[in-house]
Amino acid sequence: MENLLEIKSLNTYYGESHILRDVDLNVKSGEMVCLIGRNGVGKTTLLKSLIGLLKQKKRRYLFDW
Ligand SMILES: Nc1ncnc2c1ncn2[C@@H]1O[C@H](COP(=O)(O)OP(=O)(O)OP(=O)(O)O)[C@@H](O)[C@H]1O
Ligand SMILES: [Mg+2]
Repeated sequence: MENLLEIKSLNTYYGESHILRDVDLNVKSGEMVCLIGRNGVGKTTLLKSLIGLLKQKKRRYLFDW
């Protein structure tokens, strides 16, 4: 099945703080994905990275919808 969203090795920083380290995430057609984790683990940072609010040195996302 095709990936609707494909993230490979996402790294995001706030200044010197390295928050997201080599995050991979694939969402396939028809799947529902829930992002869970304790406070401060990086859920909001992941979504902000995806929508372009936070910049990465290398971006490799595939959106297909
Ligand atoms: N604007 C910012 N500047 C510096 N550090 C930040 C900033 N926003 C978040 N952080 C840090 O980045 C890390 C991830 O935070 P984030 O807000 O993504 O977590 P979260 O999983 O969404 O948490 P919560 O469940 O509380 O919403 C935390 O260590 C947080 O302190
Ligand atoms: Mg949050």
